[in-house]
Amino acid sequence: AGGGAVDPTLAGRRVLVTAGATREALDPVRFLSNRSTGKMGYALAREAARRGAQVVLVAGPGNLPDPEGVEVVHVESARDMHAAVLARAGWLDVAIGAAAVADYRPAVFQPHKIKKGEDRLVLELVRNPDILADLGRQKRPGQVLVGFAAETADLAEYARRKLEEKNLDLIVANDVTQPDAGFAVDTNRAVLVHRDGRQEDLPLMSKDALAAAILDRVAALLGRRDP
Ligand code: CTP
Ligand code: CA
Repeated sequence: AGGGAVDPTLAGRRVLVTAGATREALDPVRFLSNRSTGKMGYALAREAARRGAQVVLVAGPGNLPDPEGVEVVHVESARDMHAAVLARAGWLDVAIGAAAVADYRPAVFQPHKIKKGEDRLVLELVRNPDILADLGRQKRPGQVLVGFAAETADLAEYARRKLEEKNLDLIVANDVTQPDAGFAVDTNRAVLVHRDGRQEDLPLMSKDALAAAILDRVAALLGRRDP
């Protein structure tokens, strides 16, 4: 486990976390991406390791240091992330999808740098696979799946729909229009939506504190099952 006091609440549990943005290449020098920095996912990986879990962090490109005591798998695209996660679907007890996965990628990758030409260039995009939904489809009894939902309106309603569609146990929803929640900040204000219908409105807190709050809920879900 990493720094801090040893806390055994996730001892021996196998936890996979996705973090950061993905990059979807257009040509050798250009990509589509988003503003996620990976802070929330890295905080979750650190905290899970501190609690005694075996942790795999599947992370998109970024500047954050690899957490101590965590196996970090660096990936670039949504398809790379999907392959790295699904390869561990049978291994994991807990998966937490904190990554901001690109929903679409360019329909074609141009092997040579795209040259400028006409005044208007139309890009065609195609859907990427949904990592959490694919884990949800093959979820085995005892596995706990946690998603995030970045929303700009109707937070709890969209979150609940995602929980059901992806077969998740818990979803952490944040309103990304708030300046202190979401991308590239150290704080978050989350609404937790549980599978049993419970909803918890958490106050503004650091991403480290939110990671601890999420892992408390995960430990409780695991505690109701055989270790
Ligand atoms: N997610 C995923 N694979 C994708 C897209 C999303 O695993 N291809 C995960 C995210 O990591 C997050 C959850 O699904 O935990 C919800 O992501 P979000 O972007 O909020 O929802 P989507 O299902 O992609 O729907 P939309 O973007 O249309 O709101
Ligand atoms: Ca999305």
